[in-house]
Amino acid sequence: MTGPTAAAAAGPILAVRDLRVQISGRRGTVRAVDGVSLDVVRGEALGLVGESGSGKSMTLRAILGVLPPDARVTSGQILLDGADLVPLSQSALNRIRGPKIAMIFQEPMSALNPVMRVGHQIAEGPRVHLGYSRSKAAERALDLMRRVGIPDPERRFRAYPHEFSGGMRQRVMIAMALSCDPEIILCDEPTTALDVTIQDQILRLLARLCRESDVSLIFVTHDLPVVAQICQRVAVMYGGQIIEHGDTRDILLDPRHPYTLGLVRSAPDVEQVRESLVPIPGSPPSLVSPPPGCRFHPRCSFAEEDCRVMPTPLRLLPGGRSTACLHYERCAEALAAEQVTP
Ligand SMILES: Nc1ncnc2c1ncn2[C@@H]1O[C@H](COP(=O)(O)OP(=O)(O)OP(=O)(O)O)[C@@H](O)[C@H]1O
Ligand SMILES: [Mg+2]
Repeated sequence: MTGPTAAAAAGPILAVRDLRVQISGRRGTVRAVDGVSLDVVRGEALGLVGESGSGKSMTLRAILGVLPPDARVTSGQILLDGADLVPLSQSALNRIRGPKIAMIFQEPMSALNPVMRVGHQIAEGPRVHLGYSRSKAAERALDLMRRVGIPDPERRFRAYPHEFSGGMRQRVMIAMALSCDPEIILCDEPTTALDVTIQDQILRLLARLCRESDVSLIFVTHDLPVVAQICQRVAVMYGGQIIEHGDTRDILLDPRHPYTLGLVRSAPDVEQVRESLVPIPGSPPSLVSPPPGCRFHPRCSFAEEDCRVMPTPLRLLPGGRSTACLHYERCAEALAAEQVTP
């Protein structure tokens, strides 16, 4: 059996189960990730969206095992090919980063060594993790530079990161991420710092390379049109939790959570039915002492008494999607009402 059906039957590459990350801060313990579960199957791109501070980066950093010093995983599992990464030591994680999981950050300069030639940085992973000789690793780096569209790779191999433009640096990061044939690449807003034309080129490149190599992606972004462009599925985070997830089209065109509806309304281009952009009123919840019940209820125009007190775990809906909203049908009603309004 081949193709997506086989992959789905084989189970997810990555399964995150009830992950919690806490950060000790001056004003108390920040519950930055508070019970996140997600699955990624081989070759798929999962989008992770939500307002600033909702826990997207912390989720990725926990998966990669690179949390900031004050942060720690307090419970949950991160199963990569069925094996839990949470209890692993840093040296065991070092053996996984590169050949199994790679990450691409928003600002490539922070991940690149400014005083090391670019070609050598790309070649380092294959040397360390795959045991390649110096010359074989250099050949691999040149090949990757060609694949990611860096012109004149033989000359560029010897250049330093500051000699590259932002877009070219992000191509270098993609080459590095792919260099040890990982199963999954975690992308934290990799194109946000680039101008729109370059952003589009990088996204197409990333999507194509991952398709060709059957690599899975988790793609964090604020940009819903970007999710629509490259992600088959999307998970929406609010206040450290996933509050809705499912197929990208379902979620973005027909949300079943008022927060997602708010995101879609405040984003250009996703939904052509609306002309004006409507920001979500209010501000994100405190992650030190989040509101009881649904964390979105103080900002939600559909909220009822039960939303203030009832726990709101994700519930499976028909079609394989899920929502944490107790009154999700109100979204469909609101959308239907708007569509008949001239
Ligand atoms: N080093 C830190 N110390 C204390 N709190 C932190 C630290 N880094 C992040 N946080 C808090 O953890 C929560 C989750 O942050 P995270 O960076 O994951 O958000 P995000 O969804 O990636 O936001 P953005 O879209 O702005 O990148 C936020 O409330 C943030 O204030
Ligand atoms: Mg972030």
